[in-house]
Amino acid sequence: MEFATQAWDLFMSDCLYPFRAVATGVGVVYLLKTVCSTLCFLCPFIKAYVLAPLGIFRPNLKKYGPWAVVTGASEGIGRAYAIQLAKRGLNVVIMSRSREKLEKVADEIKKYGVEVRIIPVDFSSGAEIYPEIKKQLQDLEIGLLVNNVGLSYEHPEFFLDVPADRLRNILEVNCHSMVQMTHLLLPKMVERKKGLVINIASLSAEFPLAMLTVYSASKVFVSFFSDGLMQEYGSKGIVIQCITPGLVSTAMSGIKKPRSDAPSPDTFVTSALNTVGHYHHTAGCIPHVIQVLVFKLWASKFKRMAADSMMKTRAKALKRKEREKKE
Ligand SMILES: NC(=O)c1ccc[n+]([C@@H]2O[C@H](COP(=O)([O-])OP(=O)(O)OC[C@H]3O[C@@H](n4cnc5c(N)ncnc54)[C@H](OP(=O)(O)O)[C@@H]3O)[C@@H](O)[C@H]2O)c1
Repeated sequence: MEFATQAWDLFMSDCLYPFRAVATGVGVVYLLKTVCSTLCFLCPFIKAYVLAPLGIFRPNLKKYGPWAVVTGASEGIGRAYAIQLAKRGLNVVIMSRSREKLEKVADEIKKYGVEVRIIPVDFSSGAEIYPEIKKQLQDLEIGLLVNNVGLSYEHPEFFLDVPADRLRNILEVNCHSMVQMTHLLLPKMVERKKGLVINIASLSAEFPLAMLTVYSASKVFVSFFSDGLMQEYGSKGIVIQCITPGLVSTAMSGIKKPRSDAPSPDTFVTSALNTVGHYHHTAGCIPHVIQVLVFKLWASKFKRMAADSMMKTRAKALKRKEREKKE
């Protein structure tokens, strides 16, 4: 204690004045930097996640153009995007494999008094599908594109035990479709100097997810593609947004009932759409923003925990498959 008092007296003495001035300066700069970064974090967060749901700072999506295109729109998150965009006054083109499911969604969309078109297409079919898609979209003024379609593993699995054609389809559906659809629609957006492209990545793009390795890596592609493109076209009036959801209760996650950490697609998308213009890269809803922060803080611990949990899910899925085979 006495030593500490002596050290403090020495510090405050005139002979150490220059040192004291520098130390104080560094302290003040550090404090300002902390305050600034806290404000930079809090301002968009408050606008997007607190005020926009109350109707303040809610983005005007119609300003990008009268039509939106949503891929993988017959179910889950894509269906919710299509319906929410229709609710906000946009005409929508919806795309997925099943014509029947698309027609059901189209009927729902028509209730909002907007136009809807369906394009049944299989995004795992390769490059030959895009000229036909281009033909079907060429007469529309498309201001918004939601690259939502996605494919994961049947269940968590070791890389070598996933069939090679499944791995190819994951890359085709998750990455190639996004690149091709953007390449197809971005030129007219650039010409009009306005446009919004929303790319759906995943929390698994934020850190590697063992046992879903190729899915997780494909979502890193979505994330880098979005952030790079935003740098390239941001100054040309284009907004590219990357959404990285955690679990959402859909067929893909297998979570049947919404939970606090796994919202319904509607709840998730309502929140995610409010972040447009406030964030170029965000998780989409408050529980998932918190998850990203926590996972990043304890990344190595969570990587291990996630891998263990995937192993358990795999074991359960294999048992279920075995049972079904016997029945
Ligand atoms: N659910 C989650 O927890 C979660 C978490 C993070 C990220 N995500 C991402 O969010 C996106 C949507 O996921 P989701 O959970 O809503 O999936 P989902 O419920 O399985 O729906 C997938 C949609 O894509 C369509 N689709 C699937 N394969 C297709 C193909 N080859 N060609 C054309 N359409 C195809 C499906 O319709 P058809 O069967 O009619 O083709 C369906 O409309 C994906 O990119 C996914 O990676 C989901």
